[in-house]
Amino acid sequence: MAQVYLNGDFLPPEAARISPWDRGFLFGDGVYEVIPVYRGRPFLGEAHLDRLHRSLAAIDLAVPAIPWQEIFPKLIGPAPRDCALYLQITRGTYATRDHRLPEVVRPTVFAFTWDLTPPPKCGVSGITREDFRWDRCDIKSIALLGNVLLRQSATEAQAQEALLFRKGWLTEGSSSNVFAVLEGKLCTPPKSRRLLSGITRALVLQLAEQAGLPCEEREIHQEELAKAEEIWITSSTREVLPLIQLDGKPVGAGQIGPWWRQMDQWFQQYKQKWLAAHD
Ligand SMILES: Cc1ncc(COP(=O)(O)O)c(C=O)c1O
Repeated sequence: MAQVYLNGDFLPPEAARISPWDRGFLFGDGVYEVIPVYRGRPFLGEAHLDRLHRSLAAIDLAVPAIPWQEIFPKLIGPAPRDCALYLQITRGTYATRDHRLPEVVRPTVFAFTWDLTPPPKCGVSGITREDFRWDRCDIKSIALLGNVLLRQSATEAQAQEALLFRKGWLTEGSSSNVFAVLEGKLCTPPKSRRLLSGITRALVLQLAEQAGLPCEEREIHQEELAKAEEIWITSSTREVLPLIQLDGKPVGAGQIGPWWRQMDQWFQQYKQKWLAAHD
């Protein structure tokens, strides 16, 4: 496996060591990012780093500048590989377990990559679940137990994603944002503290707007979603993925729909142009 980055060092993964007194381990006190890398280029890397800074600010974690532009090429290596870059910053290690924030921060900075397999071009299935997570899902926190349990309930139902609702209103997926084609409009829930502002979500909205596709950021009720013509989930590692089944019932015609085919084409074209411009 490729080397990992830990607090200034590049190491084989088995040589990386973190104290059990790290606040990330004890409290889940940290934030993270996942950046897709195509042909060795971190795709929309600036947008991901901006979001990392927003997450850090939201948890009041001030860190010295981290030289990501030097770290990334060393983690990715010289080959033009497709991989995912994982970055994690915790509030660091202290002598005692104390809920109060430390005055002097010595953050733990950890990063690694894994090979990215292209997302399937077939439709996948989803289930619906009550969103029982906390009320700051806009922060990309490493405390992911809610997301983990919700994703596991999807796995146990032989589904790929759990779509989450608060009192009947759609928020997002356990590790994705959600789009639906409703009455001839592409819809997605508006940004709020109840969902992560996805980088892929923003790109899909941008591509739809540029093409003049009718689209709207608005609240979506569970009953309405059950009647959607198409449902997609979006994330950096799964791109735009069509759901063809929800809770065991077909979504629309139960097949990949024309809106998804069009969006996937725009998405792939945008990616290729972006990569050409960043060669
Ligand atoms: C809870 C959640 N929502 C949304 C997303 C999608 O965000 P992005 O498109 O930036 O990967 C993710 C990505 O992992 C996620 O974990």
